[in-house]
Amino acid sequence: MVAVRCENLWMIYRSLFSEKVAIKDVNLKIPRGKIYGLLGPNGAGKTTLVSIMATLLRQTKGKVEVLNLDNLIDSKEIRKRINIASGNPNLIWSLTVYENLRYYAMLYGIYDRRIVENLIKEFELQEFRDVEFNKLSTGNKQKLILARAFVNNPELVFLDEPTKGLDPPIAKRLREKISSMQRDLGITVILTTHYMGEAEMLCERIAFINRGEIVAEGTKNDLKRMLKMRDKIRIEVDSEIPQSKLNIEGVYMVEKDANQYYFYVDSVERRLWEIAKEVSKFAKIKNIAVREVDLEDVFNELAK
Ligand SMILES: Nc1ncnc2c1ncn2[C@@H]1O[C@H](COP(=O)(O)OP(=O)(O)OP(=O)(O)O)[C@@H](O)[C@H]1O
Ligand SMILES: [Mg+2]
Repeated sequence: MVAVRCENLWMIYRSLFSEKVAIKDVNLKIPRGKIYGLLGPNGAGKTTLVSIMATLLRQTKGKVEVLNLDNLIDSKEIRKRINIASGNPNLIWSLTVYENLRYYAMLYGIYDRRIVENLIKEFELQEFRDVEFNKLSTGNKQKLILARAFVNNPELVFLDEPTKGLDPPIAKRLREKISSMQRDLGITVILTTHYMGEAEMLCERIAFINRGEIVAEGTKNDLKRMLKMRDKIRIEVDSEIPQSKLNIEGVYMVEKDANQYYFYVDSVERRLWEIAKEVSKFAKIKNIAVREVDLEDVFNELAK
């Protein structure tokens, strides 16, 4: 079952004097009932892609199906069944938490007040029920924006950087909420983020987008495997090692940070001994640490 399918999708922003290709021949199949991550650096095209899928923008070329409906022909029907929340707070500033939710529910033809009250409870906003939007803290504004994305009981929710600019404990709380709402309701969530930890924690599958193109797609493990990087070995030394001596078999990439070298390898067991032997010819080893690569490493490599 597919939630969103994109085929040969292009988005070109045209103005009088310039043309910007924001999405370049994207093909994607996003499965239903999971959290799917769109990751990529600033300007990669994440918001553009989400806006097209959420029927807020019309593509230049290509086909998009959302819940098996065509985004250009059936946008009205799609809108009833999806919702979107963005990290840029944009609610009616003079209405309270309750009034905002009630207003948006009514736009969907939902007049049952219990739905609004439940969302207030679900997102822990009871205390702020009668506080105007503009008087809320950034964290509570974001909670309200997320709550609003659920007013119409959507099957598919787009979250464009839902934890942007939040301090770590609030961001963590919201991630847990997103995860539990998705699980409990069995819905599909398509999420963009800059935070690798967030994608690692929440997303079943991930697409990396860079300069409008999908450069990799798969589960977290698929992505790491694809890059042949599995482990990262950090070696602290007392002096510099000549660059030419760092070309060791099985080493995918080397990074240097002051007196520390990071070796990205396919397998620690197979490469550690050789690397340590090579390094110790040129410098004294003061410390060695090993860990698995995380999505941040993959991201840094793909965003080059
Ligand atoms: N309305 C527009 N007109 C012209 N160019 C645009 C428009 N909106 C976006 N762009 C350009 O399209 C590209 C993709 O932008 P988009 O906002 O989709 O990226 P993003 O991945 O969401 O970035 P960020 O991480 O900063 O949110 C960028 O180069 C951006 O400058
Ligand atoms: Mg964006």
